[in-house]
Amino acid sequence: MPVATVVLQVDPLRPDRAPVARAARVIRRGGLVAFPTETVYGLGADGLNPEAVKRLFAAKGRPQDNPFILHVASVEQAWVLVDWERGRGGAREAAGQLAARFWPGPLTLVLPAAPVVPREVTAGLDTVAIRMPDHAVALALIEEAGCPLAGPSANVSGRPSPTAAEHVLEDLEGRIEMILDAGPTGVGVESTVLDLTRRPPVVLRPGGVTAETLAEVVGELRELSPGDMGEGPAPSPGTKYRHYAPRAPLLLATRLPPAGLERLLAEGRRLEEAGRRVGVLVADEEAPLIPAAWLVRTVGSRNHPREVAARLFAAMRDLERLGVDVILALPYAEEGLGRAIMNRLRKASSGPL
Ligand code: TXA
Ligand code: MG
Repeated sequence: MPVATVVLQVDPLRPDRAPVARAARVIRRGGLVAFPTETVYGLGADGLNPEAVKRLFAAKGRPQDNPFILHVASVEQAWVLVDWERGRGGAREAAGQLAARFWPGPLTLVLPAAPVVPREVTAGLDTVAIRMPDHAVALALIEEAGCPLAGPSANVSGRPSPTAAEHVLEDLEGRIEMILDAGPTGVGVESTVLDLTRRPPVVLRPGGVTAETLAEVVGELRELSPGDMGEGPAPSPGTKYRHYAPRAPLLLATRLPPAGLERLLAEGRRLEEAGRRVGVLVADEEAPLIPAAWLVRTVGSRNHPREVAARLFAAMRDLERLGVDVILALPYAEEGLGRAIMNRLRKASSGPL
């Protein structure tokens, strides 16, 4: 049954009480509210209400075996969700240190779940993923609702994550009660998911906090290699699906420029001759070399990965809206935030270029 989706504007830094209070009432009644975080927009539901959480799967078309992150507004609220008795030695200390350093912020911690966490949230796993978002609107909403918010990214499953309220509307209008619109998000890629139930801790999804920075606090870390996702149950269920994909197929060059750019130009000319509308997703440095007839979206300078991360998903959605038949994209250096950028580009791509 379609519902009317109400969009309320909110100041991102000093959220007005009235819209936040209205949104919190929707959450307490078991409804769905899209809200801004520093990474991407999330789709919030009362994380302790199994019926509300079930609606998240339906609204997003999300596979049933993919669990949700619980968003909290304080460390106390986070640790109630954890069963420390089942934790690996040192997990509690590591969690405390990581929270002190990175919360609020784009880091999600996977820990043993306490019995209060509904199985709808964990998709049957015995662990729970928790994070405290660094956004005044998100924190105000969680506080006002009085419960942790289950919050997947507010896109239809498999689509690019939403970095603006328009993207949420594009995907979920008629399926959710409300959107709190506080303008574009800052980081642009999702949080880093770190599994503290294993030793050394494992980065299940690269994100807004880099592995290099995490290592300063936890020492040794393991990063998931593509090989870890082959056989058996995926360690982080969300990592096994095609993700972040715009409607037009995205082809990702295997080499950095200049070699990757040569390849992109050659393939673009071939596609153009075959009558296809070519879209390209490149950095500022390459934009002047792209033929004028092609549709170009830039994501900022290669020297500023923060800018690239912030603009990546919006650029994909822009190109699909322009009606291109194919998107040709270039890779980025795989260090720091570049790992998260390349992770999203690879998952969005339907093949190499
Ligand atoms: O930045 C973010 O993390 C955004 C904003 C809205 O907070 N949220 C987000 O949620 O990206 P979602 O549902 O799109 O992605 C959550 C990821 C998935 O890959 C999921 O499989 C993983 O976290 N995850 C959740 N619970 C887990 C658990 N107990 N163990 C392992 N992975 C888990
Ligand atoms: Mg997502």
